[in-house]
Amino acid sequence: MVESPQALRVALLGCGVVGTEVVRLLTAQADDLAARVGARLEIVGIAVRDVQAPRDAVVDRALLTDDASALVDRSDVVIEVMGGIEPARTLLLRAIDGGAAVVTANKALLGHDGPTLYAAADRAGVDLYFEAAVAGAIPLVRPVRESLAGDRVTRVLGIVNGTTNYVLDEMTTKGLDAAQAVRQAQALGFAEADPTADVEGHDAAAKAAILASLAFHTRVSTDDVHCEGITGVTAQDVRWAAQTGHVIKLLAIAERIGDGAVAVRVHPALVPADHPLASVHGGFNAVFVEAEAAGELMFYGRGAGGAPTASAILGDVVTVARHRVGGGKGPVESSYADLGVLDIGEATTRYQIVLRVADRPGVLAQVSAELAGHGVSIETVRQARSDLGGDEQADLLLVTHASRDAALSATVRALAGLPVVDAVLSVLRVEGA
Ligand code: NDP
Ligand code: HSE
Repeated sequence: MVESPQALRVALLGCGVVGTEVVRLLTAQADDLAARVGARLEIVGIAVRDVQAPRDAVVDRALLTDDASALVDRSDVVIEVMGGIEPARTLLLRAIDGGAAVVTANKALLGHDGPTLYAAADRAGVDLYFEAAVAGAIPLVRPVRESLAGDRVTRVLGIVNGTTNYVLDEMTTKGLDAAQAVRQAQALGFAEADPTADVEGHDAAAKAAILASLAFHTRVSTDDVHCEGITGVTAQDVRWAAQTGHVIKLLAIAERIGDGAVAVRVHPALVPADHPLASVHGGFNAVFVEAEAAGELMFYGRGAGGAPTASAILGDVVTVARHRVGGGKGPVESSYADLGVLDIGEATTRYQIVLRVADRPGVLAQVSAELAGHGVSIETVRQARSDLGGDEQADLLLVTHASRDAALSATVRALAGLPVVDAVLSVLRVEGA
């Protein structure tokens, strides 16, 4: 009979916003975790960049090291919360090759090069878990990867970045400017080390790639994701959205198109004010998953921040530690479906277009004719209230019916070329109707 180990050696790579909370949970819950796992989880080292930097009192400074490679070599479980592609990738491959189980929150790495990690973990027969990489505390990776493995997922749609949700929410509810709101999100521990990854949509794109790969059993990398961030969203956009009964959210959408392909996109979008996603405030995330048999599922919770993320990491740590103690292994990569990844042009969506036009008879007819010429029909049209523009001009706010994105964007280009259109002031997609 194999005896259970008395303790499992846990290496922590990174001790910032998330790593510090991982230490806190591992320390505060040590006895409970030991009871749940069947062995104590002993932190044998914490790799950081600067061992001299000030740390939270919960961190035992004697465990700090700047030699992460040596640390992973003497570990059973490696928790990676340092972020970035390198040296995280090299360290995780080293840990895996050395037989350690890996738990990571690193969506940038998984979205960029997940298959390399999966293949290594498969070869070595060790666990690779990453619940914290998507939507912070919300159990989402496991439901998609395991609970829905017997169903056919058709669509994943939601808010997967806490920073941008916080920023858009502050702009909407308090009239804050974006730069100010980003600084607050950083102070709250939501933002990435470089918040450009949040505001440009790259963080959400990495998460969308991970979710799409799991949901559709195919490989989708971050580079496959159409990505627009929130830097172009203005206070005036927020006001126009309100005029048509919407709020602006940064959405990640991954969907099947026909039988053999998927399209994955991240962009700001208007959602109706009475849609559940409109009530997702601050750093919270919410994701709808649609599957043929299950129907629609909604996942909601804290999508960012040290403690919520640490909760998801600890869940994975308990799972991989239980496997060490009692046997078993988590799922390997499932990419058999090998679906094509289509351009956003093939996705179906709606647009809200704000045009500055000449304020004279016949203008609306010309605008409508241009839309009709592209096979795009108008759902609503109204004169926008705006502080901008002169007496000879009017701002028209059009919301289209659903159409292929390619047709909608071609329509916008054509409208911009009409002599009666002085400017295209704003174009945003509309989702969730
Ligand atoms: P931080 O920037 O706060 O912490 C990063 C930590 O990693 C620091 O302790 C840093 O050391 C260490 N580190 C960075 N590079 C190296 C290196 N080359 N060698 C050794 N140590 C290194 O990041 P977060 O804690 O916010 O995020 C960590 C990871 O978790 C990222 O992958 C992030 O995307 C992910 N994540 C973050 C969430 C959040 O809400 N913050 C939520 C979900 C996932 P030092 O302290 O010396 O600088
Ligand atoms: N920067 C990320 C966010 C952290 O704001 O959502 C959580 O993944």
